[in-house]
Order: sequence, then C-alpha cells, then structure tokens
Amino acid sequence: MACVIIVGTQWGDEGKGKIVDLLTERADAVVRYQGGNNAGHTVMFGNKTFVTHLVPSGILRKTTSILGNGVVIDLAELIKEIDVLEQMDIAVENYLRISDRAQLVMPWHKTFDRLGEEQKGTKKIGTTGRGIGPAYEDKIGRSGIRVGDLLDPEHFRTLLEEIVDKKNQQLEHYYKSDEPPFSTELIFSEFANHLKKLEPYICDSVMLLNQLVEQGKNILFEGAQGTFLDVDHGTYPFVTSSNTLAGGACAGAGIGPTRITDVLGIVKAYTTRVGSGPFPTELFDKDGELLQSEGNEFGATTGRPRRCGWFDALLVRQAVRLNGVTGMAVMKLDVLDNFETLKIAVGYRLANGELRENLPRSLESVTPVYEEMPGWNRKTAGITDYEQLPPEMLAYLDRLSELVGAPVSIISTGPKREESIVLNPDQLWR
Ligand code: IMP
Repeated sequence: MACVIIVGTQWGDEGKGKIVDLLTERADAVVRYQGGNNAGHTVMFGNKTFVTHLVPSGILRKTTSILGNGVVIDLAELIKEIDVLEQMDIAVENYLRISDRAQLVMPWHKTFDRLGEEQKGTKKIGTTGRGIGPAYEDKIGRSGIRVGDLLDPEHFRTLLEEIVDKKNQQLEHYYKSDEPPFSTELIFSEFANHLKKLEPYICDSVMLLNQLVEQGKNILFEGAQGTFLDVDHGTYPFVTSSNTLAGGACAGAGIGPTRITDVLGIVKAYTTRVGSGPFPTELFDKDGELLQSEGNEFGATTGRPRRCGWFDALLVRQAVRLNGVTGMAVMKLDVLDNFETLKIAVGYRLANGELRENLPRSLESVTPVYEEMPGWNRKTAGITDYEQLPPEMLAYLDRLSELVGAPVSIISTGPKREESIVLNPDQLWR
C-alpha cells in the first residue's frame, strides 16, 4: 500500500500532469485535494495532448478519480470536461467520484474575481479569473454552497435565496457594477440541470478513500498549482487561495497524515511563473526568451506567456522542507539542451547588502547570487537510457539534489509518458 502526494515545488506548471499520468499506471485511485479549474494539467501520449482542469489526470488511464472535499468545483466546466472525456471513449461515470463536501464555484464567484482584479488595477494578482479566490472566501466565511446541498432541492433553493440577495447588494454597492443582478430562479434551474448529469458521481469521498486505503490500495494525491502559490507559505498576496502544499492533501481529501507514505516533489529544471508577484531569478534577456520558446511556456489554462528564469535552489530547498519531499521528479531538462552555461541561484543579496541562503519573508527586492555550471549543449530530448545522459546533465542534477536536500527519483526528457527515466520504480509503490 502506498499513498503518494505529487506536489509542485515552484509556482506551478512544473509538469505534475505528466508524472501523475506516468505513476497512475500502478495506482488504484487518483485524488485532487485543492484548487479548481484554475489548474491545467497537460498529459501527452501517442501524438495526442490532453489538458485536464478539474478532473484528476488519472482518469486518462481509466482509474478511480476523486474530486476531494478541498476542491472548489465549477459544475458547468466539469461537465464540459466530462463531455470531452466521453468523446474519447472514457466511461467517466465508472471512474469519477465527487465529494459531497466540495464547495461550488457559483456565478458570483467568477464575476467578483474579475471585478476584484479590475478594482485592484496595477496591484492585481493576475488570477486565472475562474472564481477560485471568491469561492474559498465564502468557504472560510461559512457562506459557501457545497455539492451535497444540491441533493435537497428545497434546502438548496433556501440557501440560494439568502445568498443571492447579499451577492446582488455586493455587486451593486461594493463593486458599483451595472451588470444584471443574479437570479435565484435562473441559477436554481441551471444547477438542477447540472445535478441531473452529475448526481451519480456524488459520494462520501472520505469513506471511499479510506476504504481504499484500508484495502491496501495505491493512492496518488494530485496537487494543483505549486508550493509558492500556497496561501500560507507562498509569495503572499500573489498566491492562490488554497493550501497547495502536501499538508493540504490530508485536510482536502480527508485522510490522516500517518497514511501518507511518500511526497514526490515535481521540479522544473528552471523556473517559471504566471501572473503577478516577485520572481527573483526572472530573465528579461534572450536566455529567458529561449526558455520560453523551447519550453513552450504558455499557461495551459489561460494561454498567458509564463515568465521564465534560472533554477532557484533557495525556493526548492524551502519547498522540500515545507512538503517533506522524499524524492524529486526533475522536469523539462531537455529545454536546457541549447545553453552553453547554466545558472543556479544559491543565495539572495538583500537590499541592505546582507547575503541570505534561506528564503526571507519577502522576495520583492532581493538580487540572486548565482553559481554557474557548464551546459551539455547537445540534444537530449527523448533519451530514456540513464547511461546516455551527458555527464554535464548528471552533474547539474547532482548539484540540484545537493542544494535542495532531496534525491532525484525521476528524470523527464520530454512531454510524452515514455520520455522519462524512473530511477527506482519500486521505491514509491512498495
Ligand atoms: P487564482 O488561483 O486563479 O486565484 O490565481 C492566483 C495566482 O495563482 C495567479 O498568479 C495565477 O496565475 C496562479 N495560478 C493559479 N493556478 C495556477 C496553475 O495551475 N499554474 C500556475 N499558476 C497558477
């Protein structure tokens, strides 16, 4: 039995989808525990590319796929994803399960996400606009609506009547918007339609998950976003609104911490970020452009170009601590194929001249101190034999591992399932 958490160690987009897909071969269930359709998990096999936003990417391997209680769900978007999967001959009804305790993303959450960003002007977070922040605000404010509330239509209508009135006041008086007010009747009938499609999927996911654990099954927990978008430990306020860390899996899926056997940290061989917020190793030169073009660094959810920079060992070392990472999957090494020299941030110079080797509270005005290593300067994309990796790449990997304090478990040399070198295949699924 193994319960393995897959977690992003940077600002998301590390390549979690590919690794979840790879490891799902031996998993009995895959569970999402936080976030919503702000995520975009890209999986490539054969000549096809798939992006899942809400449904755990394990579904592509026809595995039990659970949306845990910690996820915020936009039902209309979920139904669109299910439709695409069904067109691919995946009998989603057999595999997908939705927690009756997950929170719903309601129409006002999306509207207020957009209006809130407009109001912030130059201080905007650069959210994905999917209503994620406002949905979590209502959850914590104890005025959210949960999936299970839909199962009792009268109760749902009463909830809606109370909430819609407040949201319309907010729309008019706080956001001073002249958009049409939210209508209880329209929303009630829209959600009644969603329920017709989704009722068979709704369950007590905590019971389901814990039964699987008791039966000794292998479970993967699919983190979304990344460590430095965590609402507590990320670059606040430029973060998402959930706990993206491995620790979030326990609360967001309903499993005890003692059940977790491993935490696999997904690490991009360089750094990217989407949206606003500090990014010490960001590049604005031709090296940054090369990373962006070679790495095809455009958001899987919004299509926005990702900001690119060198590997930051301070960030990933902190992520190893915060998540208790037991092994790393290092992704997109092939994107570095054309660099003569590689740089790794090993320290930060603060504005007062002080040198720091651990993360300061704010990353706003730090200057990275770099160590340089020779690049391998040859094509490695698609190599699947460890012995064929260039010595400079192995040296780079050794140095990353030493700096961040975690062993390398998987090396990824391309986007496809097969373009991976798993160093200890039996280590995770013991
Ligand atoms: P939100 O999650 O839409 O509220 O956006 C908050 C911040 O998290 C923004 O900077 C987004 O660009 C970022 N973000 C949210 N989801 C992802 C993701 O899946 N990958 C990378 N960045 C993300």
